[in-house]
Amino acid sequence: MQPLSRRNALLMGGVGVAATAVGAAGLAWTLTSQRAPVAGAALTHPAERSSAGGTLALELEAAPATLELGGRQATALGYNGTSPGPTLRLRAGDLLRIRLLNRLAEPTNLHLHGLHVSPQGNGDNVFVTVAPGGSFDYEYRLPADHPAGVYWYHPHHHGMVAGQVFGGLFGAIIVEDNEPVPAAMDRVLVVSDTDLDAAGNVRRVPQAERMAGREGGLVLVNGQSNPLISALPGQRERWRLVNACVSRYLLLQLAGQDLQLLGLDSGRFQPPEPVTEVLLAPGNRADLLVTAAAGGSVLRAAYYDRGSMPGMMGRGPAGRDTPDQSQGVALATLQVAGEPAAAPAGLPPRPAAADLRELPVAAHRRFLLAAGMGAGSMGGGGSGMMAFTINGREFDAARTDTRVAAGSVEEWTVVNTSPMDHPFHLHVWPMQLISANGAAPAVPTWQDVVNVPANGQVTVRIAFKDFAGRSAYHCHILDHEDLGMMGVIEVR
Ligand code: C2O
Ligand code: CU
Ligand code: CU
Repeated sequence: MQPLSRRNALLMGGVGVAATAVGAAGLAWTLTSQRAPVAGAALTHPAERSSAGGTLALELEAAPATLELGGRQATALGYNGTSPGPTLRLRAGDLLRIRLLNRLAEPTNLHLHGLHVSPQGNGDNVFVTVAPGGSFDYEYRLPADHPAGVYWYHPHHHGMVAGQVFGGLFGAIIVEDNEPVPAAMDRVLVVSDTDLDAAGNVRRVPQAERMAGREGGLVLVNGQSNPLISALPGQRERWRLVNACVSRYLLLQLAGQDLQLLGLDSGRFQPPEPVTEVLLAPGNRADLLVTAAAGGSVLRAAYYDRGSMPGMMGRGPAGRDTPDQSQGVALATLQVAGEPAAAPAGLPPRPAAADLRELPVAAHRRFLLAAGMGAGSMGGGGSGMMAFTINGREFDAARTDTRVAAGSVEEWTVVNTSPMDHPFHLHVWPMQLISANGAAPAVPTWQDVVNVPANGQVTVRIAFKDFAGRSAYHCHILDHEDLGMMGVIEVR
């Protein structure tokens, strides 16, 4: 999850010259669907709802919707009739009130991914169930020192998360900076993937693909296929990228352009880190400054090998995942033309990131992520069903797996015994990355999703401050979460 790891650099060296990214996306599409998406329209942004006077109150209606996805009419799911749903713009200290209305045919609920808010009661409580036809009034108070950054919301009803996100239920949340970052444009780019059949319905995904972690062949930015972004030479833009894909890793590249990473998840880089690519595991977000260079470029998700189970089907329809996707996917096209823009103003100083590395650790824990032939708790003993477990157990909402003393700092080592990557996510409390496969980051790095490589391990530290209550940690390949790779934490 380092912005540019050696592994990624090597990996990219091996990809070589692919077909043009636009062509690659078209190829991926034609192999996975009967109707090509319409690409190249100007990028649009989701509607925005901003707090005023310290409060944002809104309704979010989760419902089937007729939407335009990739330029085609689709029957999918949306919040308030759109996918992505509205972007929520908040400030530290704000009160956020959301009435969630469930107009789906199945239960749902709402999770604010990455926000440091209480998990109790009508807060960010993933144990709430909102039945079809029902509603729930959520209320969240952001702490006065809540980190600025890019967050997102999505359903979290166990067993149905992947399907509802694949259907289109997600939206971005921005927590604004106290000192604005000068940029000509502030763009929210929510990346998702799905599949539509010839009639425009979201494809149903068979069990084998869920075990691999489904990847849709239709990769979208704000619901559009390879939209066009226009900028003046020298113009600095801020791109807030959300990986809302169920399972797809995004190894983002924008060749020839000047990229500076302001932040990843709630983490900040001070000064911003110059990068040539950024890996976003499912659930991760990047806060990126793009200074446009003449000629433009294509924002690509380059091929990333997240591994697979031996003998397992591929991730896409018909079990394919290579070679077509090895060409990468064009997410958006940046076109740079016109009179050069004035040089952008300097960046305001920002506080240095917190660092837990010198603090006393109250407890060390190990979490074992495993995917293997199950003991039958999924009802499939010997039938080829795999169990997705943490410390040998599948998720049980009634059981508390991890009890933590409020106010303590803990060190967690997450070990992956399977030959595929698992992105490990903890709700409410962000994680400081201490090491990944033995390599320590050079600067304090805070994330809420850390990728645990195949047959690898990651160590993080967590300060359990501000909030008590029960919440969850899980693999953010949402199919794996639904299949059981999730545990319950209680802080008190
Ligand atoms: Cu983005 Cu528990 O989730
Ligand atoms: Cu989350
Ligand atoms: Cu996983």
